[in-house]
Amino acid sequence: MQSLRERLAKIAGANVPVLIQGESGTGKDIIARMIHAASPWKTGPWVKVNCPAIPGTLLESELFGYEKGAFTGAFGTKPGRVEMAHRGTLFLDEISELDMSLQSKLLQLLQDGQFCRIGAQEDKKVEVRVVCATNRKLEEEIANGTFRADLFYRINVVNLRMPSLRERASDIPDLVAYFLEYYNRKFNSRAKPLSAELMNAFQKYRWPGNVRELENLMKRYVILGTEESISGDLRPQEPDFFSADISVDGPISLKKITRQAVHELERKIILKVLQHHHWNRKQAARALNISYRALLYKIRDAGLPSNRAARRSQDDDMTQTVAAD
Ligand SMILES: Nc1ncnc2c1ncn2[C@@H]1O[C@H](COP(=O)(O)OP(=O)(O)O)[C@@H](O)[C@H]1O
Ligand SMILES: [Mg+2]
Repeated sequence: MQSLRERLAKIAGANVPVLIQGESGTGKDIIARMIHAASPWKTGPWVKVNCPAIPGTLLESELFGYEKGAFTGAFGTKPGRVEMAHRGTLFLDEISELDMSLQSKLLQLLQDGQFCRIGAQEDKKVEVRVVCATNRKLEEEIANGTFRADLFYRINVVNLRMPSLRERASDIPDLVAYFLEYYNRKFNSRAKPLSAELMNAFQKYRWPGNVRELENLMKRYVILGTEESISGDLRPQEPDFFSADISVDGPISLKKITRQAVHELERKIILKVLQHHHWNRKQAARALNISYRALLYKIRDAGLPSNRAARRSQDDDMTQTVAAD
């Protein structure tokens, strides 16, 4: 995190696009705000667009605005967020969710600072610092054909990769102390520091929701006041059957392990093929050389979402249960 901050200080002053990559809850929003706050445009506007939160058809008019009569219902003109960010920072969160046509409009904006309101005759020019964030691997999205490679190179002039919390487990005690003090003050509580056992469990836990999950756990601890109220949430780490350090201390059921490993491998492959075929299950079944019915069964069996929309809402559910606020 320190080297990340050092890089941030260096790049904040130059008007170059920044791409922040990292799992959900690692602090991408915070870093984007810090870039703005450390930039020469800090007194200018800070405009955040959460791409997946705005339905596809509305996103273009939200971003680029429209002229009167551009479409039914466009009774007046409306500037988009791109324009509102003039001489400030435009933060595009979850950039991988932009569809191809918006990706090319964004590419134009990054190339020459120009864009066009929907229904307008002429291009407009703006000066904006563009910061993008994503929790997906854009390289994979490019390989899948859902993200433009040329746009990727444009937004990726500077890349900041946020480490996951499990990669920086040594920061956990500091974060715990910070959230304890913060929420004790906020809720006027006097929750005690965590026991050594629980802190130990914290450092072994995987934290799929990263700092956001830790923050919410600490918030609940401060409100409910007992360690029991949160210790149950630290689900044990999923065993990794492919790693060499499977514990062989106790008795092992080879049959069970093999079955689970085959299941897990199947799940991974099916997910990958589904993503590759944009969740078209007929095509995926053909690619996997199994029947459509068999695929549907396996999808249900593996607990995979049945289509792209469900996948999104499952992702959202996951961040919501983790966020819980
Ligand atoms: N270093 C940190 N110190 C304090 N709080 C943090 C830190 N990093 C993240 N958080 C908190 O964790 C939550 C998730 O951070 P956020 O920037 O929204 O993550 P992301 O955008 O990567 O999903 C927020 O509530 C944020 O305040
Ligand atoms: Mg975010």
